[in-house]
Amino acid sequence: MIKIDNLTYRYQADAPKALDDISLSFKTGDWVSIIGHNGSGKSTLVKLMMGILEGYSGEISVDGEVLTPDNLQRFRERFAIVFQNPDNQFVGATVEDDVAFGLENQGLPREVMLERTEAALEAVNMLAYRRHAPARLSGGQKQRVAIAGALAMEPAVLILDEATSMLDPEGRSDMLAILNDIHKTRTTTLIYITHDLGEIEDSDYAVIMKDGKVISEGTIEHIFSDTDTLIESRLVLPYQMQISRALLDGGYVTHDELVARL
Ligand SMILES: Nc1ncnc2c1ncn2[C@@H]1O[C@H](COP(=O)(O)OP(=O)(O)OP(=O)(O)O)[C@@H](O)[C@H]1O
Ligand SMILES: [Mg+2]
Repeated sequence: MIKIDNLTYRYQADAPKALDDISLSFKTGDWVSIIGHNGSGKSTLVKLMMGILEGYSGEISVDGEVLTPDNLQRFRERFAIVFQNPDNQFVGATVEDDVAFGLENQGLPREVMLERTEAALEAVNMLAYRRHAPARLSGGQKQRVAIAGALAMEPAVLILDEATSMLDPEGRSDMLAILNDIHKTRTTTLIYITHDLGEIEDSDYAVIMKDGKVISEGTIEHIFSDTDTLIESRLVLPYQMQISRALLDGGYVTHDELVARL
């Protein structure tokens, strides 16, 4: 379990709070979505969780172990992260070299490295491309290889920081299907950052952030039933919710009638 208590962070002493007294806990193996507008603090939160940023107040712990300067290195090894822009993430000449790269300084036997690389490429449906040059893949394929690279490290927690935001709708739904498979077949905790409420349906838990604060958290059912907070978040509502809202606001149906129909 990842536990965050009263976490507050500023990038500079005189800057406004990037995170303002955040307390959260994520269960091991859950798929957690973090949603919020630009600048709401999503990336800052995961960077702190991974031990990348220092100088915060509050406490971060994983499985009961509190993050301190002494265990920072071991702490970081539990996490792997995939970012938005796939082009900045490749170092290998071939897809399989790239996926194996992260394993090279772990001192693993060659067979184990090969096994892990294959299993990770298989998990993202990219094994057939193992000898291809990463530069010649499509955006969606590149992101899948980046995820394979992260998976091969067998992290306890895999973080995707807007990793689908540069993909077309098909690339995104492809990626969500792959994450669903990973979620079903591995015990990895998934943290999925997005500003699209339409992408959180499959997650076990979701957190909505605004101006460095958590404004809503809970199961997907809970998040979607709290329409006032959703509107306050100024996120674009999924199409079905926009229609329901318009019907309610126009007085065409009552809340109870709508719920009875769903
Ligand atoms: N390196 C930095 N130096 C100074 N301020 C920063 C830095 N990175 C982020 N901030 C500020 O911290 C706040 C939170 O930023 P953060 O990057 O965590 O938001 P985000 O929710 O990830 O946004 P986005 O959706 O744009 O990625 C913002 O006000 C931002 O301007
Ligand atoms: Mg961000």
